[in-house]
Amino acid sequence: MKSDDAPMTASVHWRVFPDRAALAAHAAELILASARDAIAVHGQFRLVLAGGRTPLAVYAQLASARADWPRWHWYVGDERCLPAGDAGRNDSAIRHAWLDRIAAPPANIHTIPAELGAQAAARQYAALLTGLGEFDLVLLGLGEDGHTASLFPGRPLDASAEVLAVHDAPKPPSERVTLSAARLSRARQVLFLVTGADKRAAVTAWRAGADIPARAISGNVQVLLDAEAAPEAPAINPGVAPA
Ligand code: 6PG
Repeated sequence: MKSDDAPMTASVHWRVFPDRAALAAHAAELILASARDAIAVHGQFRLVLAGGRTPLAVYAQLASARADWPRWHWYVGDERCLPAGDAGRNDSAIRHAWLDRIAAPPANIHTIPAELGAQAAARQYAALLTGLGEFDLVLLGLGEDGHTASLFPGRPLDASAEVLAVHDAPKPPSERVTLSAARLSRARQVLFLVTGADKRAAVTAWRAGADIPARAISGNVQVLLDAEAAPEAPAINPGVAPA
């Protein structure tokens, strides 16, 4: 860790960037470095992708990067129950920003069949993950209410399951499928990407120890914030370091 990283709890490190572009550039570099390490160690890179808008700038940067794509495996972390190919799905946005623009082997793109409905899709995705070890890197976003992936406040975390069907999500659509907090935490590294002033309250709550879903993700967790999302930015990271 660099000296500008300030640990908040034993395992969460926070880092603030001046703007979204700086954050995206750093995140893309970090992902590429993580891939190189994982491939050197075990021959492939297992990456869990976040939905939502924030990571799209990172995915767009990666679309023009050079990497050993055949050794990458992409897993969607959560999905919205909409028809296959629907523009509102996370996998559609991810393909459009990144995977359709590189030579990604189709068999390495592991999407959630959310068009089947939440229960059936969760079952199928859980079967796909059976026997798979820990992920190398998990990317996550943060909602205004502290949700992450499709783990929303006030819902049981169900640590016994790897994949959960969600029926009452407050963020549309209400039907979703998500990796559980326990499965998302089985990773060498977890990286949250958080931008915009509308996330500041959730960040403040998280740092204050509030019981928000993002807090349920454990392990080697880093949170990258832009200055707008960071409460008291100087206290988190004096001097705002460049990537
Ligand atoms: C989704 C997500 C969700 C998202 C956050 C942040 O399906 O929308 O997976 O958890 O990451 O809501 O979304 P933004 O990046 O769009 O703010």
